Amino acid sequence: AAPCDIFASGGTPCVAAHSTTRALFSAFNGALYQVKRGSDGATTNIAPLSAGGVANAAAQDSFCSGTTCLITTIFDQSGRGNHLTQAPAGGFNGPESNGADNLASATGAPVTLNGQKAYGVFISPGTGYRNNAVSGIATGDAAEGMYAVLDGTHFNGACCFDYGNAETNSRDTGNGHMEAIYFGTSTTWGTGSGSGPWLMADLENGLFSGNTTGNNPSDPTITNRFFTAIVKGQPNHWALRGANAASGSLSTFYSGVRPTASGYNPMKKEGAIILGIGGDNSNGAQGTFYEGVMTSGFPSDATENSVQANIVAAKYATTSLVSGPAISVGSSVSLRATTACCTTRFLAHSGTAVATQVVTSSSNSTLKQQASWTVVSGLANGGCISFQSKDTPGSFLRHNNFVLLLNANDGSKQFKEDATFCPQAGLNGQGNSIRSFNYPTRYFRHFDNNLDIASNGGVHTFDAAASFNDDVSWVVTSSFA
Ligand code: AHR
Ligand code: AHR
Repeated sequence: AAPCDIFASGGTPCVAAHSTTRALFSAFNGALYQVKRGSDGATTNIAPLSAGGVANAAAQDSFCSGTTCLITTIFDQSGRGNHLTQAPAGGFNGPESNGADNLASATGAPVTLNGQKAYGVFISPGTGYRNNAVSGIATGDAAEGMYAVLDGTHFNGACCFDYGNAETNSRDTGNGHMEAIYFGTSTTWGTGSGSGPWLMADLENGLFSGNTTGNNPSDPTITNRFFTAIVKGQPNHWALRGANAASGSLSTFYSGVRPTASGYNPMKKEGAIILGIGGDNSNGAQGTFYEGVMTSGFPSDATENSVQANIVAAKYATTSLVSGPAISVGSSVSLRATTACCTTRFLAHSGTAVATQVVTSSSNSTLKQQASWTVVSGLANGGCISFQSKDTPGSFLRHNNFVLLLNANDGSKQFKEDATFCPQAGLNGQGNSIRSFNYPTRYFRHFDNNLDIASNGGVHTFDAAASFNDDVSWVVTSSFA
């Protein structure tokens, strides 16, 4: 049985079931998600390899070969049509035109399930999915449950990496109007023990780690790479539960009465569904979602325990984040542009600015050094790499406001993520395309010879679709210096 078969036999059926990695009903063989490619805007649906099985990642890889792909829709497997699509503007605007949020890269979160490759939904700040016109999701004080499998190592402190029940108008309509899973290190409202990240319940104008606003030490810091998060609620009762999604069983972090703070009892749930954002479209948070469901009715602990066993049996595991020619840690490299205009130009810094420069074997040694980089293990993820300046040790290529810069490592989590890149096979067939770790829709790009991290057809001038594949493809050679 799959998670939603288990919830159904427990008397608390799934009314929404979302996953880009696998079917959540054992009989489900329809579309799990839709991707759209950058080359021609065409879309395709990705289904499980067989009913109840793992997503057909090879179909995505072949459709997206030599271009970029975004996840446009995460289909609801429950049959109720509660699909998740690009979140619209709300109380806060997203980065896209009309204030919509960004869509996620289709390749930002590769994993394996029982050894078969699949892709999760990698939410960068600015990215969000939503459905404000749902069917069958709990409203008012009605009972519901929900779980999500997340990457416990991908988070930040911004509001709010959520999955669950929110406002149907994308605005903050008051306390008790949401009931969603939150994961991250926000300290604005609640906190748990340690320094986080924590699972909390987003109940609107408050992330709750337990019964009271503020700190509830029985809500632990999560350290699992794969994490099962549970929030459930019914009249004057709610609970937070969690587990390592790769082994073991659920623990209850909180189970008891509703918060006494005003507005949360009874609840005023509205029944929209959000992923990666807050109820009012706050979109500064990051995280990774693999699968999740919402139920009608308050699931028993025993039902959830069976679901956790099913998740463990799905065997989520990490896999390679890179492709294309190897760029080895410890090597010294220079990166040559491949666009026809610019094939004698190499990525080089001048102070903190980064641009392409014409460099040859007879260039002066200063320029040769400026175009030379030591490859180190990715500062934020050892599966990727960082580029340390040859002439300025301790300084690394990093993006800031999507501009590529050379900055000294300040040791912060933000710097490490901004300085980590996961090389892919070059999108134009040459060399590598150097993808940002924390914004996987974005790659090293030269544009007017300046270096940015660009997405294919995004809102910045440097995101222009014309010549994107060439501008983001680099031949990586031994360094000049
Ligand atoms: O409850 C935390 C956040 O507060 C909600 O997600 C958002 O709607 C509001 O800003
Ligand atoms: O470059 C995009 C973001 O801009 C970086 O992650 C952050 O450092 C800055 O806010």
